[in-house]
Amino acid sequence: MADTLVELVEGCRLPVLRKNQENEDEWPLAEILSVKEVPGKKLYYVHYIDFNKRLDEWVTPDRLDMKKLQFPKKEAKTPTKNGLPGSRPSSPDRDVRKSLDLNLQSASAPSRGKTLPTPKRKAESVSLTSQGSAAPSVPSLPSSAEAPQASVFPAVVRESFSNKSREEHEQLTVANGTTRRLVPSQPGRKRKNCGTDEDSQDSLDGIPSAPRMTGSLVSDRSHDDIVTRMKNIDCIELGRHRLKPWYFSPYPQELTTLPILYLCEFCLKYLKSLKCLQRHLTKCNLRHPPGNEIYRKGTISFFEIDGRKNKTYSQNLCLLAKCFLDHKTLYYDTDPFLFYVMTEYDSKGFHIVGYFSKEKESTEDYNVACILTLPPYQRRGYGKLLIEFSYELSKVEGKTGTPEKPLSDLGLLSYRSYWSQTILEILMDLKSDNGERPQITINEISEITSVKKEDVISTLQYLNLINYYKGQYILTLSEDIVDGHERAMQKRHLRIDPKCLHFTPKDWSKRGKW
Ligand code: ACO
Ligand code: ZN
Repeated sequence: MADTLVELVEGCRLPVLRKNQENEDEWPLAEILSVKEVPGKKLYYVHYIDFNKRLDEWVTPDRLDMKKLQFPKKEAKTPTKNGLPGSRPSSPDRDVRKSLDLNLQSASAPSRGKTLPTPKRKAESVSLTSQGSAAPSVPSLPSSAEAPQASVFPAVVRESFSNKSREEHEQLTVANGTTRRLVPSQPGRKRKNCGTDEDSQDSLDGIPSAPRMTGSLVSDRSHDDIVTRMKNIDCIELGRHRLKPWYFSPYPQELTTLPILYLCEFCLKYLKSLKCLQRHLTKCNLRHPPGNEIYRKGTISFFEIDGRKNKTYSQNLCLLAKCFLDHKTLYYDTDPFLFYVMTEYDSKGFHIVGYFSKEKESTEDYNVACILTLPPYQRRGYGKLLIEFSYELSKVEGKTGTPEKPLSDLGLLSYRSYWSQTILEILMDLKSDNGERPQITINEISEITSVKKEDVISTLQYLNLINYYKGQYILTLSEDIVDGHERAMQKRHLRIDPKCLHFTPKDWSKRGKW
């Protein structure tokens, strides 16, 4: 319980009561990020130290364990222009990164050692064979998810393979044999009473109610800014859904005090009241995202939106997405990006489910900048469907691709799962000639799947498939792996059908300006 005699200030740490996933009480250590007075009591905005920032929340004093209160270290209090403390003893972002590192350590844990390939029912073994005589240990390969720096654009870190010459010769051999080549089987008049006039969303040149050009819009250091560290929108109504934002998004300041922000689910325009939304809907003719529908199968469609041609839509999409993306910097220059919006169709129209953005040109082989499944649709396979679609685009482009780093915790889970299933599908479909162990190279897996080589390698390591035996790297597919994969694939109902994709890649480098 909060002791009214002690003044809790920003930076204080203490255990705070919360419910865990099983709805049980727990008292994790939390840091107070902000304090506000509401009639009759104080409220504290807390960040749980070892938890993702999306769980940050306002809590009442009765949830604070004052007995274990730690005051902030003095030197950590750097005043900012608004008088709020600046840098802090610890940054939640740093904490997130730490847990990511841990994940990655386990992801790149050494393989089990020199275990013999043990062929079982469908069990296959692969070995990375250095064709020389030396028998190096399995190289410590960089996981593509390891890049430490956050930014949408430009992205900076490029991993290098620790042992290029050997890599060229590495081969995945699936139990006794010969090398086989595989064939790749997002205007109008001002309406003062609506606050968010339509012009403001069409032009962002300093119009008062335009989104703020500060904070996470312009600098990665925004993470140190107390304002951008707190969620500012309480609730968004989007079509038939009410969304609870996870993170700060730079919607116009005057909209942050509203209990509900209303969005047109088709053009994503933001409005301050239901009345304003209803008036907007009488004029808005869109029933699907702008741009071209480049994929349709069943009720699932994908629309390709040029960030330059449909700037307002793209910016509104970014504002919505930022509510659920913490580690990415939001830029108002959407020109260099394409947006692929996935929708689900019903008689009322094409409803947005999720999207990913993609740079028109990427020197880093990025095929996804930001990816999002809207919360009401999460954990139903749509994330992997978006990922699968991004790789189908790369296949048509004839390129390999990788998502921009760093990945969020949920992004990492989803990509790992996608990569694992994609690679295991390939390995298990390998047929042996003459009863000999089939072989495949990392390059071949990468070419067939369009998954960047580094991600193929990190996945093989994550799955702990790589063993070294008698001068050869062998991948052993244990019965557990095979069974687990088969069970997972049975549950994976949502798949992209490449035949339904109508996409012609453009050579953006030849267009001068996007
Ligand atoms: N807890 C545990 N596992 C999860 C969770 C969760 N909350 N959410 C997804 N997963 C796992 C699923 O179990 C699944 O793995 P499995 O099939 O092996 O069981 C895998 O992740 C993918 O699940 P999907 O249902 O296909 O993905 P979903 O539709 O939930 O979307 C996404 C995943 C896009 C990452 C979503 O969580 C999201 O939008 N998060 C917020 C934004 C974000 O973090 N985006 C990624 C940033 S990285 C980048 O932009 C490049
Ligand atoms: Zn609209």
